[in-house]
Amino acid sequence: GKVAVLLGGCSAEREVSLMSGSAVLEALRRAGVDAHPFDPAERDLFELKREGFDRAFIALHGRGGEDGTLQGVLEWLRIPYTGSGVLASALAMDKWRTKLLWQQLGLPTPVALRLTEEEFAAGSEEAARRVLEALTLPVFVKPVHEGSSMGATRVEREEELTSALEAARRFDGEVLVERFVAGREITIGFLGEQTLPAIEIVAPQGRYDYHNKYFSDETRYLCPAPLPEPLASRLAELTMRAARALGCRGWGRIDLLLEDDAPYLLEMNTAPGMTAHSLVPLAARASGIEFDALCLRILEEARC
Ligand code: DAL
Ligand code: MG
Repeated sequence: GKVAVLLGGCSAEREVSLMSGSAVLEALRRAGVDAHPFDPAERDLFELKREGFDRAFIALHGRGGEDGTLQGVLEWLRIPYTGSGVLASALAMDKWRTKLLWQQLGLPTPVALRLTEEEFAAGSEEAARRVLEALTLPVFVKPVHEGSSMGATRVEREEELTSALEAARRFDGEVLVERFVAGREITIGFLGEQTLPAIEIVAPQGRYDYHNKYFSDETRYLCPAPLPEPLASRLAELTMRAARALGCRGWGRIDLLLEDDAPYLLEMNTAPGMTAHSLVPLAARASGIEFDALCLRILEEARC
């Protein structure tokens, strides 16, 4: 049957999604799938049904595509879709509630503070004071519901804090401030119940920001990450526990930091990037799954 590759969308990660979506579309077509692009920013989702699509590949990132709302519509239309369901998608888009859940289950994640509109009501300076009372610098400031490092800043000095909070707030009413873990940057994807080889990211100046994610040729990706056993297996196991805790399904990718040998979970991506610079495709290739086969595998797991 016909497959809709959902791409674009209205989130801040629209450009990334257009790159992911076109790569997926081409791969599915090469593999003989009757796949068509569908941008929910331009078209009514209800047309999916009218046009006879019988599966959807979600290549949308961020709010409106990766956060459960779209998944809810597809459930309602009874169109099987790739990746996690409504609840897991919504939880994973919320870095604060993801953290609360992981903490509750004893899974390691950096200590953090969340600021809401209430905390900002007395001004960003006051919010910054709250942060300094609770945490010691350096910290990492990010919007609660965002991806691709949008609005995220590492803060080393007190005088940088207020503007970092304001930058995050431009994206989101809720801001997460985490202890900065000065560790190795690791990401682990999974397909079904199986983890892919871990990737270690070595970004220029240790800054894996938007530019260094998608446009830099200097960012290095070590895959499989040079991790000794039993650490590599421990991280793979931690990834699946963290994914199950949120109820994720199909595929996804967890980002974490490794401080000495201690892992800290940062976040779960339920519709990870599939661009030429993206990580799940790289990890899949390292385990013998080429990009076209990867896209087919993800599509085969489509549910509703
Ligand atoms: N949020 C981006 C797309 C990623 O995690 O790959
Ligand atoms: Mg993310």
